[in-house]
This record gives sequence, structure tokens and C-alpha cells, in this order.
Amino acid sequence: MARRKYVVGNWKMNGVSASIAEAQAIFAAADGHPAVEVAICPPFTLIGAMVAAARGAPVGGQDCHSAASGAFTGSIAAPMLADIGASLVIVGHSERREGFGESDADVRAKAEAALAAGLSVILCVGEPREVRESGGAIEFVLTQVAGSVPANVDPARFAIAYEPIWAIGTGLVPTIDDVAAMHGAIRRALSSYGAETAQAVRILYGGSVNGENAAELLGVGDVDGALVGGASLTAAKFVPIVEAAAGL
Ligand code: 13P
Repeated sequence: MARRKYVVGNWKMNGVSASIAEAQAIFAAADGHPAVEVAICPPFTLIGAMVAAARGAPVGGQDCHSAASGAFTGSIAAPMLADIGASLVIVGHSERREGFGESDADVRAKAEAALAAGLSVILCVGEPREVRESGGAIEFVLTQVAGSVPANVDPARFAIAYEPIWAIGTGLVPTIDDVAAMHGAIRRALSSYGAETAQAVRILYGGSVNGENAAELLGVGDVDGALVGGASLTAAKFVPIVEAAAGL
């Protein structure tokens, strides 16, 4: 089954009202490449304005709480994202796992909450540098997959992003062979969900993706898209990644 390429911008803690124009330029360019699904996950404060500007293109959150409501000062619940027009959410980003102490169980609970709210999920996994250097990257990531992927996943609304922590924002990327080995291992691990599901779930690569390296990374058989940080903030940098995905 062909998996539609999925290119997602994670704006992290970047962007103010004036940045909506950049998103509009990105979505306008993406309209010319219907074979690629293009989404942006801006900070919570911009979701409403970006949904209004996106003319149906997917806009998402970068995190959600696992509860539907309650006394959790500063947090945003998945039904709130859905209510404001978001259609997806990133969960388990390494900046949340590491910086906010989120465990696999926390990430799984967030993914379940998001799916229950009708959102699509991009669930992130990825190893730190010392684990890569010690040769344990695949085992580490498969433990994250086993611990954080919900029991029921609908491939139409669930994707995994493999983001090696040492590749995020550093300009470093794994070798193509290492990317292929990791994505293949993740897909094999998903076979516990049934062969059809394992084949249909999109597995994105993230970590220093740019217009120069996107075609090679996205050309790997089990790489179904990219989760892009720094290079997603402007149309000038993000659109070439979309074009690379479209050219495959
Ligand atoms: P960079 O593309 O800036 O390396 O960030 C990757 C990332 O963390 C996306 O979620």
C-alpha cells in the first residue's frame, strides 16, 4: 500500500502573529503538491489564526495533556486543540521527554487522549548520542515504541517520528544506512499490530532535515516523511523539502 508522504513543520517555541504570513506561503506552495500532506504545528497561541489561514490544511499542537480537563495550570487538553480546529498533535518529542521528564507511559496516555479527541498523532522516539555511540540505538528506540505506542492505532491517524536527539538542531544526520535500519526495525516492531497496520503507519524522520538532504532521506523505503524544526519556519527553507518529497 502506498503511504502518502507527510512533511510536518514543528515550529517549537517560535512564531508570533506576523508569522502567519509565512504559514500562508507554505500552504499555498503545498497546494501545488497534492501527493504530499503538509502540516504545521505552531505554538498554541498561533493555532487558531493559522487554522483560519490554512484553508483546510492540517494545523496541529506540539503537545497535549493526557486528561480531558482539570486543574492543570498551564496545560492544554486534546479536546481543546480539536475545538480550536487543530487536526493533529505531536506527542513525546524529545524536548518534552528530556526537558519535562515525560515517560513512555506519559506519552502513551497523551497519544490515547489525542486519539480519543479525534486528533491525529505524531509520536516521537529517538536516542541520545551516547546510546547511538554505544551501539544500542535500535534497542533503545524499540523500547520507546513498545512503551509509548497505544494499544489501538489507526494508521490513518497515527504516525511515528524517529528523531535522534543528537541530530536535532545540530546539522548532524545519521547515515542513510542507519536511517534505513532504524525505520525498518520500527516497522517490524509494529507488526505486533497486524501486518496491514505495520505497512500503513507512516514513519517520519526528523533531525536537521533541510532542502539539501531531504531527497536522500525521504528516498529511503521506510521513510514516509519528515518532521522539520528550524527549516520549517520560513517558506524559503520549508518549501524545498516539500518539493523534494513531491519529486519522489
Ligand atoms: P531540526 O529540524 O531543527 O533539527 O528539529 C527537528 C525536530 O526536533 C522536529 O521536531
